[in-house]
Amino acid sequence: MDIFEKCKAFYSKPEFAQKLGYPTNPRTAQAMGVYPFFIPLNETEGTEVVIGNKRLIMIGSNNYLGLTTHPKVREAAIEAIKKYGTSCTGSRFLNGTLEMHLELEERLAKFVGKEKALVFSTGFQTNLGTISCILDKEDVVITDKEVHASIVDGVRMSKAEKRYFKHNDTKDLEKILQSYPKEKGKLVIVDGVFSMGGDIAPLPEIIPLCKKYGARLMVDDAHSVGVLGGGRGTAFHFNCVDDVDLIMGTFSKSFASVGGFIAGDKETIHWIQHFARPLIFSASLPAPNVAAVLAALDVIEEEPERVVRVNKISEMMRRELRAIGYNVGNSQTPIIPIIIGDQLKTMQAWKILFEAGIYTNVALPPAVPPNMSLLRTSYMATHTDEQLEKVLETFKHIKQKLAID
Ligand SMILES: Cc1ncc(COP(=O)(O)O)c(C=O)c1O
Repeated sequence: MDIFEKCKAFYSKPEFAQKLGYPTNPRTAQAMGVYPFFIPLNETEGTEVVIGNKRLIMIGSNNYLGLTTHPKVREAAIEAIKKYGTSCTGSRFLNGTLEMHLELEERLAKFVGKEKALVFSTGFQTNLGTISCILDKEDVVITDKEVHASIVDGVRMSKAEKRYFKHNDTKDLEKILQSYPKEKGKLVIVDGVFSMGGDIAPLPEIIPLCKKYGARLMVDDAHSVGVLGGGRGTAFHFNCVDDVDLIMGTFSKSFASVGGFIAGDKETIHWIQHFARPLIFSASLPAPNVAAVLAALDVIEEEPERVVRVNKISEMMRRELRAIGYNVGNSQTPIIPIIIGDQLKTMQAWKILFEAGIYTNVALPPAVPPNMSLLRTSYMATHTDEQLEKVLETFKHIKQKLAID
């Protein structure tokens, strides 16, 4: 059978797409005008974007502190291009390490309270590289069932035994941990903030279990840095920095850039530096991206009110959306899912928002379980009160119009 047959079938046969977990074939959704993916933006100023000729309020971005357009961040990236050009054209291992990378690693290590940090070219690569090189075939890796795809793939790439515990269920985690001898190598991995639900991993319950059963703990803080613990992440939020062995973060959200980092003790980071293939065999983070993160760190320290505001408006939005009658799950952060359930109704809700001048993200099966389709809304420190009022008014209207229960 030709290996491209499946591509042709997925393209043109709705029943084949259904078998792959797509209740509505992407091309059917496109024909209905409710396909919400790969939409090109032709302008973006953070809280507003332009699509075609239409200006929309953005409530689907991970730009939590609104720093992508901050004058200091923009300026730092421009100056770095002038000085270093647009690419390092080589890996960190060989010709691709600039002094700036080392400066950033030092800043990040201090920022999250660890001895050392290592910068990768994306957050995805950080997880792939770290997890796959830190585990041996004699070890077991135990992850929350809702961790990010980059952790899932890092785990797949490792040779360790793989176990998964029910989302944020520490009883289930303990059941798995206690089934192994204490001396077996164990790594527990969670997202600090879960990227779809916006809920927080209960580190104060997870840490004692890791200690009791001799497991190391890695926390993915992609959505926590800039938001929790005064911007320093989940471990700061719970005051348990010394009890988290590895802290991973990305630059593609609050840090207004692209890239990622892993932080931990000096020996572990040294190991990752020498064995993480996505670090060694991929070009390093370009200077403007490094400079943008350095400037973002300055702004977070100089303007702590941004972290306060993003949390304050998120609390307000959660309260108001619940008051309208929406199911927002267990969100505790600027990520607020609106769980609608039915796939078509979710796409219709997305379309009404779009027509009203509001852009958000949709999560449909297979990204979420069947009948758990949702709108993933997320908020920025720079959203104005007027913008948020308009969002709430539109959600009120959608609730009635689509009879969402
Ligand atoms: C929890 C989590 N980890 C890792 C990543 C990957 O980060 P990046 O986009 O920087 O590659 C993401 C991005 O969506 C994420 O949400």
